[in-house]
Amino acid sequence: MRELDRTPSALPSRCAIVGAGRLGHALGAALSAAGVAVEGPLGRGAEPAEDVVLLCVPDGEIAAAAAALAPRSGRLVGHCSGATTLEVLAPHEAFSLHPLMTVPEGGAARFAGAGCAVAGASPAALEAVRGLAGALGMRAVEVADEDRAAYHAAASIAANFLVTLEGAAERLAATAGVDRALLLPLARAALENWGAQGAERALTGPVARGDEATVARQRAAVAERAPDLLEVFDALVAASRVLVAA
Ligand SMILES: NC(=O)c1ccc[n+]([C@@H]2O[C@H](COP(=O)([O-])OP(=O)(O)OC[C@H]3O[C@@H](n4cnc5c(N)ncnc54)[C@H](OP(=O)(O)O)[C@@H]3O)[C@@H](O)[C@H]2O)c1
Repeated sequence: MRELDRTPSALPSRCAIVGAGRLGHALGAALSAAGVAVEGPLGRGAEPAEDVVLLCVPDGEIAAAAAALAPRSGRLVGHCSGATTLEVLAPHEAFSLHPLMTVPEGGAARFAGAGCAVAGASPAALEAVRGLAGALGMRAVEVADEDRAAYHAAASIAANFLVTLEGAAERLAATAGVDRALLLPLARAALENWGAQGAERALTGPVARGDEATVARQRAAVAERAPDLLEVFDALVAASRVLVAA
């Protein structure tokens, strides 16, 4: 990973967005707010007029959406996928911008201050994507092609699986009559501690204290009230023990 310097590079003054889903709408609004003239987000079959085109379509649709665009001199075509390299955009002069940010349906997207992986197949493409990232206030990093799948898996663990985990906690809490709102400050504090201190120092709780009797009581409660969560519980206890041992 190489973090690119944050001096604003040339900002494309106009761009088109193809794909009117979660990210397409959120990026369109954020770029417009930053002063970029945005065409779209456009749906299927539209032929954008702009020279910089950002595809905000599902990963499996990127190749088809790129193939639907007429290649022309000076046109730059990018995608927003974390795990995908640039070949899929051929024959266009390609770039990619993957925001390290979660954009749920109808939810607010906070791009400023977040990271994003960028790539460019040419100096002009890299300059353009750095400009877009800069306009959004994002920290741009270059991730080597061979590292992209690992980078993307890390992002999924950090955000997607975290939500899955909190959903499991919410279900178990509900069996005790406790609302997820009460878990939220706890979860936020744990996340902030991890960010500030790293996992080894931030870990608290019965596993960190070596309190095996309490871990066993927790396990019995999970087995009784949400048996389908037992496998996840056991795996997380095991992973926490590895962390403690480290
Ligand atoms: N959402 C996030 O949190 C997030 C974060 C970082 C990166 N990304 C990346 O952003 C990209 C889009 O994700 P998303 O979450 O925004 O997906 P999404 O909400 O499912 O939206 C995708 C949109 O693309 C449209 N589409 C599909 N194929 C198309 C085509 N060939 N031409 C034009 N439009 C087409 C879909 O229209 P139909 O409904 O007609 O199929 C839909 O409106 C993906 O590469 C994803 O990895 C997403």
